[in-house]
Amino acid sequence: MEYVLFILLAYLIGSIPSALIVGKVGYNIDVREHGSGNLGATNTFRILGKKAGIIVLIADILKGTIATILPVLFGFDLYLLVIGLGAVIGHVYPVFARFKGGKAVATSAGIILGVNALLFAIIIASFVIVLLISKYVSLASMTAGIVGVVVSLFITQDIVLSIVLGLLAIFILYKHRQNIVRIIRREEPKASFLVKNNS
Ligand code: G3P
Repeated sequence: MEYVLFILLAYLIGSIPSALIVGKVGYNIDVREHGSGNLGATNTFRILGKKAGIIVLIADILKGTIATILPVLFGFDLYLLVIGLGAVIGHVYPVFARFKGGKAVATSAGIILGVNALLFAIIIASFVIVLLISKYVSLASMTAGIVGVVVSLFITQDIVLSIVLGLLAIFILYKHRQNIVRIIRREEPKASFLVKNNS
């Protein structure tokens, strides 16, 4: 019963559409109508700039972390990663934004921060390295998802963690299927904050 309650709470927290709120409240812009149309930090950076992008990135990570550690704060001994998945589902299919949200990356990072800070740091490092080399946020996101699975196998003895991260990585790849096609066709926009001419 506790699992159902906390997963539901996590889903509601994950459903808070940070990119939509920041865009509408701060700039009177609906980011769903611009760029990739994705309700995530990358599209916010692209459309509204660094300040808005950083706010959305932090908010989306925190949604995952807060939802994940909520049972601990209330004194329940639950398998936290499973609770965190509720937040990822909320972020991707938000009840507060017609079930069309982000691509699972920042909120997944947030739940990993909630369960294993070292794994989080390694994943972020891999993300930054791939981003700086390729300048593709989507490629960095997908690589980070895969790195999470591989590294978790080595630094934890938690096979359930690795399996759940594997499922998350597959989900992240699925959500990036259009980005994959664009990367192959060399049509994927590079990170606006890393390049002057976004081609
Ligand atoms: O986290 C989402 C990012 O990897 C890609 O976003 O807007 O370029 O499709 P976008």
